[in-house]
Amino acid sequence: MKQSLIGALCAMAVMGGAFAQTPKKPVAKPTRQTAPAVEAKDAATIEFEKFRAEMEDSNPAELFEMKGEEQWKTKRGPNNVALAESCDLGQGVGKIEGAYVKMPRYFADADAVMDAERRIVWCMVEKQGFKFEDIAKTPFANETFTPDITNLVTYVAGHSRNMKIAVPLKEPKVREAYEIGKEIAAYRAGPYDFSCNTCHGADGKRIRMQQLPNLSTAKGAMSGVQGWPGYRMTGGVMLTHQWRMGDCFRQQRFPQPKYASDAVAYLLTYMIGNANGQVYKGPGIKR
Ligand code: HEC
Repeated sequence: MKQSLIGALCAMAVMGGAFAQTPKKPVAKPTRQTAPAVEAKDAATIEFEKFRAEMEDSNPAELFEMKGEEQWKTKRGPNNVALAESCDLGQGVGKIEGAYVKMPRYFADADAVMDAERRIVWCMVEKQGFKFEDIAKTPFANETFTPDITNLVTYVAGHSRNMKIAVPLKEPKVREAYEIGKEIAAYRAGPYDFSCNTCHGADGKRIRMQQLPNLSTAKGAMSGVQGWPGYRMTGGVMLTHQWRMGDCFRQQRFPQPKYASDAVAYLLTYMIGNANGQVYKGPGIKR
């Protein structure tokens, strides 16, 4: 894949900046700044694991799944149709069982490779008649608001619980998206000349208390997939993979990519594709 295409994609991300999500100020994490590096991190990880174990019986993600189910089944939008009767996630109209773990995939009707969130947005626009610009105005949750799309993605993801990730990488369009995603992950630019791989391209990297998964390995990629969409304890909000990608562009000091754009779908194809064969446990809890 040519460098120029990657450059163009990144330029698109820049141009999309005006439409993109205003970067949210991360909620202050005082302990992270003051904690002495290694021991504190491990103690914090242990604490978090304990908390997650306790939460497992009452996973907050389920509340969002329930809302998403209602929204999936209800006739909505200017066209007054339900996604359940109009939206094909690759398994047939309305079928959601196992759909999440088989995306991103290529959709001929849209002539695009789409991750789950991008596809559901596409259905909301094309089938229900919502305006893309309206959805893209506030695509991610904050402390007081959860967009419908987040509920819907969480609902759909919940119907792939305990299934193996199976991105159809043999399909040529998906393979191409994977290759571009791989290039984007390696593309260095911005004020610090970072790429995704600067932080996520080797084993054992960490920033403050965070262990950074190596997205080029199956295990590392899976830790970037597991638990998303996730209820984030930092801020107490439900967030999706699209959010995670956008926020890491921010980590990288890049402009945020346009919501539901090619660049994000390609990166997700690369990362989720690398996790093929691993078991997805469903929407979860993230730190
Ligand atoms: C400057 C370092 C840095 C760069 C560059 C960076 N990230 Fe991250 N990434 C992080 C940190 C730190 C976290 C953990 C954030 C948190 O949990 O608050 C993270 C978390 C993630 C996660 C979630 C991991 C999990 O456990 O769920 C994914 C996926 C991810 N990054 C992907 C990317 C991609 C794709 C890029 C390139 C667009 C990228 N990152 C660029 C630092 C970086």
